[in-house]
Amino acid sequence: MSPDRQTGAKRVAILISGSGSNMVALADSMSGDHPARPVLVLSNRPGAGGLARAEALGIATAAVDHRAFEGDRARFEAALGEVLAAAEPDVICLAGFMRILTPAFTRAWAGRVLNIHPSLLPKYPGLHSHARALEAGDAEAGCTVHEVTEALDGGPILGQARVPVLPGDTPETLAARVLVEEHRLYPAVLRRFVTGDRTPVLFG
Ligand code: GAR
Repeated sequence: MSPDRQTGAKRVAILISGSGSNMVALADSMSGDHPARPVLVLSNRPGAGGLARAEALGIATAAVDHRAFEGDRARFEAALGEVLAAAEPDVICLAGFMRILTPAFTRAWAGRVLNIHPSLLPKYPGLHSHARALEAGDAEAGCTVHEVTEALDGGPILGQARVPVLPGDTPETLAARVLVEEHRLYPAVLRRFVTGDRTPVLFG
């Protein structure tokens, strides 16, 4: 029996596509008296760097390669859902998970899925948010953790962190500054969320 089943801690699955730095921040936060534990890191890319990082942290990992489903989102999500369901998660954190989820999936897991997005939503949903903030001449940028609904990057906001846009910023320098805040914000929101507190966490 896993330790969390003994202690009653909430079970958290983390979905990634890439390096998994947010996944590590979340996993690192879930220790000691934290009311949750990571039970699975799942990637749609078998080669995602975050899988090795999760293994090194002693977390169970799995991959469901979306390319094997040749564009059939329903079949991909059915496979993803099966692996997730076996882990019995109370909460699913999307952490750099770069597949759009269909309403069938988001409805099936409604109320349990969080996402982090690198913009101050509702500004710049979708891709290239840092470049779009710079093009718009915004004085500040940031990141948002929100509940996942069928609206892309559109669910209720559970936390935001703001950073200044500095002279000479490029999408890369801005992304790096925002990422530091992502690593603070996401664990703070998760900690609140697993206790049933949906008051937004606001930083900066
Ligand atoms: C993070 O900046 C996250 O906000 C972003 O991808 C990066 C993943 O980095 N997510 C999205 O753009 C989702 N639309 P990580 O793999 O190092 O956590």
